[in-house]
Amino acid sequence: MFDTLNPSDLNESNARLLREPTKTRPPIWIVKEGGKKAVVKDFSRQGWLYRNIVGRILIWRERKAYEMLQGIQGVPCLYRTIPGKALIIEAIDGQDLRTFERELISMAQDGSETSALEEKKKLLSLDFFLNIKKLVDEIHERGAVHCDLKRTPNIMIGKDGNPYIVDWAAFIAKNEARIFPLNILYKRFLQDDYLSITKLKVNNRPDLATEEEHQAYKDYKAGREEAGFERTIREFRKKIRTLLKKMA
Ligand SMILES: Nc1ncnc2c1ncn2[C@@H]1O[C@H](COP(=O)(O)OP(=O)(O)OP(=O)(O)O)[C@@H](O)[C@H]1O
Ligand SMILES: [Mg+2]
Repeated sequence: MFDTLNPSDLNESNARLLREPTKTRPPIWIVKEGGKKAVVKDFSRQGWLYRNIVGRILIWRERKAYEMLQGIQGVPCLYRTIPGKALIIEAIDGQDLRTFERELISMAQDGSETSALEEKKKLLSLDFFLNIKKLVDEIHERGAVHCDLKRTPNIMIGKDGNPYIVDWAAFIAKNEARIFPLNILYKRFLQDDYLSITKLKVNNRPDLATEEEHQAYKDYKAGREEAGFERTIREFRKKIRTLLKKMA
């Protein structure tokens, strides 16, 4: 599928630009072929150094994750990769949760009818949260951890009401983390994936969160500044981003 697609040929006349590129983020296109819709993460126009080092690594990581997780409902399927250039992934018909949350905020600000706002909020139903928990269980059972679920753009709600998880560049496979201290880190990331769901629930549907979940989120927030793990990961990510910007 999408066998003849060449990312360098994509433009506004044959594809829809879903996200503008930045120095460190590739443009994302939506393309259609034979009744199927795909998302193309297109590294082909980034600078040479970025494309050949960072681009290749990111494409390799995401490819590995999609291959491990193939067939799980809630993880889009990978149609094709073009090494060093692009990932072509099944497009999910729906909305990412950052866009979803922003829409809720602007509806509240521009005085949209309360009923419309409530209807939208209800899309994040108890079933949605049960299903995302099941989805994360299944991913963990396959031996993978997402590691970046606290970022709401990486979770989508489909038009079918179901959760979908995208952006696997930061994932870790269990068999890559067998040795100390990586095995400890892996366990922390497993917990972190679940904490991301709690955070999402407490922030958007506090009425659905249990007392334990409210408490877990409070503890997480209270301890966040002191937690060595969180701080180390945050600082590490910041350093990587600065390095990437220099390379771009
Ligand atoms: N399979 C998909 N179907 C539909 N939309 C998608 C899909 N994959 C990504 N998107 C959209 O593109 C956005 C960015 O995707 P993704 O997170 O994979 O890119 P990224 O370059 O890793 O971005 P960031 O660094 O900001 O996380 C998502 O938030 C979502 O809106
Ligand atoms: Mg992302």
